[in-house]
Amino acid sequence: MTDFCRKYGLSIPVVLAPMGGGPSTPELVAAVSNAGGLGSLAAAYSNAERIEQDIAAVRKLTSRPFAVNLFSPQAQLPLNDDVKAVSEFLRPYHERLGLKAPELPQKPIEDFDEQLDAVAKAALPIVSFTFGLLPSKATERLKAQGTYLVGTATTVDEARQLEKAGVDAVIAQGSEAGAHRGTFAVPAEEALIGTVALVPQVVDAVHVPVIASGGIMDGRGLVAALALGASAVQMGTAFLACKEAGTSAAYREALMRGREDATTLTRAFSGRMARGLSNEFVEKWNAARMEHLPYPWQNAFTQPMRRAATAAKQVGLLSLWTGQGAGMLRETTVAQLMKDLQEEMKQAWLKLKGQME
Ligand SMILES: Cc1cc2nc3c(=O)[nH]c(=O)nc-3n(C[C@H](O)[C@H](O)[C@H](O)COP(=O)(O)O)c2cc1C
Repeated sequence: MTDFCRKYGLSIPVVLAPMGGGPSTPELVAAVSNAGGLGSLAAAYSNAERIEQDIAAVRKLTSRPFAVNLFSPQAQLPLNDDVKAVSEFLRPYHERLGLKAPELPQKPIEDFDEQLDAVAKAALPIVSFTFGLLPSKATERLKAQGTYLVGTATTVDEARQLEKAGVDAVIAQGSEAGAHRGTFAVPAEEALIGTVALVPQVVDAVHVPVIASGGIMDGRGLVAALALGASAVQMGTAFLACKEAGTSAAYREALMRGREDATTLTRAFSGRMARGLSNEFVEKWNAARMEHLPYPWQNAFTQPMRRAATAAKQVGLLSLWTGQGAGMLRETTVAQLMKDLQEEMKQAWLKLKGQME
């Protein structure tokens, strides 16, 4: 029982990772909170109206605390000549899926200030974020209403910057983690530190609770993270195959073939480095030595293809975000997974204790 768990009445130190792009349904979020963990709703790809609807839906399913997650607003980098090349690269996939020719949308991402308004209006106990620091006005606004802020760090320096900016807890995201790297202070290639090395160094560097994230899939990983000094863990991949997750059928099928060596880091889908299962799109992108558009443009440009590929079950063209723990994935319900995690933690701890006596 850590201070972080006590503060939010958690009976198990598990935070559900917010999982944007579909997996993070209100049912999944509420099920984790109802099972004694902390659910997190991914809101970064949602507009204000959708955020309000999703928060209301979670509140209908649980009276326990849950978090909402946003992306820190990013400086919009200018587009360049690469647009034409990326468009040409996408064209055959659009044809294969029966889509019209690739076209850059006017608005590649939802408006952060509108998202923040929706989140602030909901007066949530916890807001988490990734991809950087929050604007100081947003921090002040959320803290003034008593919201606990949790930022994402991939290096010790980022953790220190987040603490200085006023966060109440830091997620230490190791390089094993599924989906986007939260890196903001250095190029993502320079911040690929594994969870076991990152967590204790962040714990030693900051005074706020640290939440370990990346590659933690079972009770052994949970006990290990607590031994490293973490106050809780944030798990994403482990929940992807739960019944309550919004993971599409094609994505689920691919996940069940996942193994520890099946993932790769790529910017092909979004322009930001992310970890997922390698597939046709990533392999062809790499072979063609393509230059990606800056995030969020690349993300917006590949979105129609990813959507249509999901419907057509074309796993070769989907972003199959997964962490390196993929081989430990279980198809189950949240209630069962949480129960198993609790029992595994106990067993792992008893085994260690026995070995030390
Ligand atoms: C499918 C998927 C989507 C994700 N989307 C988000 C997101 O919207 N916001 C965020 O802060 N982290 C997101 N993450 C990253 C998680 O917060 C976390 O770092 C990661 O899941 C931990 O590694 P694991 O997948 O090995 O448990 C996502 C992870 C996955 C697997």
